[in-house]
Amino acid sequence: MGFRRFFLSFLLSAYFLFDVSTSSSSSLACNSNDLKALTGLSNCLGSLIAGWNSVASPDCCNWTGVTCDSSIVSGRRVVGLELGSRKLKGKICESLADLDQGIPKDLANCTSLHHLSFHGNYLSGSLPDGVFQLQNLRELHIQDNRFSGPLKNGIANLSNLVKLDISSNLFSVILPDAFGSLTRLEQFSASSNLFIGRLPRSVVNSPSLQMLVLKNNSLSGLINLSCSAMNLSQSWF
Ligand SMILES: *[C@@H]1O[C@H](CO)[C@@H](O)[C@H](O)[C@H]1NC(C)=O
Ligand SMILES: *[C@@H]1O[C@H](CO)[C@@H](O)[C@H](O)[C@H]1NC(C)=O
Ligand SMILES: *[C@@H]1O[C@H](CO)[C@@H](O)[C@H](O)[C@H]1NC(C)=O
Ligand SMILES: *[C@@H]1O[C@H](CO)[C@@H](O)[C@H](O)[C@H]1NC(C)=O
Ligand SMILES: *[C@@H]1O[C@H](CO)[C@@H](O)[C@H](O)[C@H]1NC(C)=O
Ligand SMILES: *[C@@H]1O[C@H](CO)[C@@H](O)[C@H](O)[C@H]1NC(C)=O
Repeated sequence: MGFRRFFLSFLLSAYFLFDVSTSSSSSLACNSNDLKALTGLSNCLGSLIAGWNSVASPDCCNWTGVTCDSSIVSGRRVVGLELGSRKLKGKICESLADLDQGIPKDLANCTSLHHLSFHGNYLSGSLPDGVFQLQNLRELHIQDNRFSGPLKNGIANLSNLVKLDISSNLFSVILPDAFGSLTRLEQFSASSNLFIGRLPRSVVNSPSLQMLVLKNNSLSGLINLSCSAMNLSQSWF
């Protein structure tokens, strides 16, 4: 009788131990789609990201610069990526959009991401389309890199953006007239790029914009802008 009771309680505690350990690993670790996305991102960058190692730490929430929320439903979601000044080189999967078999649209799956920061690296190529699917993004900081090409219309997708800093890159041609849907945008810095032509109407007419920094481009018509007409509190044209 004593043995039976012992055996039963042994079974029960083994069950609970197993249950707790499996549920904690699935609930406390990062969401598996986010893990795959970050692994893909680090694989396609030309340089290793220090502090990102899926073998040493399979929980991407533990990786340097990664912030996760505390949801426990299907793993913790990655909500912030802070990879500023990390000497990263190469392209953020420039050709992701074309290569949709093999390499996935890594970043696009981090749907909970609201803060993305890659400033102060040596990243080049165009901004990958995956970024334009991060519809919860509130802050995008990619200043001080070597991104080039146009800023694409896809920026219109980021309707929750509050801060956008693309300054000190090699972005060129005209700024897209795609800011009308960015109804929360308060700060936009695009200084020291190669932008030409007129500032788009949708920037001029933005009711939410409070800070606009455009100096050191080849934009025209800026002389007619006025802070009070645009409701800006800070500007550098
Ligand atoms: C992205 O999400 C889709 C749908 O949930 C999934 O099929 C795909 O494998 C995910 N990709 C990555 C890299 O996690
Ligand atoms: C993640 O970090 C937590 C605490 O910071 C630690 O207890 C846990 O072991 C780490 N997990 C992995 C897989 O490194
Ligand atoms: C905008 O977001 C939608 C929904 O995620 C997506 O289907 C579309 O491709 C995005 N547009 C661009 C230009 O990325
Ligand atoms: C102006 O921008 C170019 C890149 O477009 C940069 O090389 C240069 O240093 C910038 N000049 C100033 C004064 O910021
Ligand atoms: C101007 O900006 C302030 C916040 O800085 C806002 O409360 C106000 O509604 C704006 N005015 C217009 C006309 O958009
Ligand atoms: C800009 O201002 C100048 C001088 O005040 C004026 O002649 C010109 O018509 C204005 N241009 C536009 C597009 O408003």
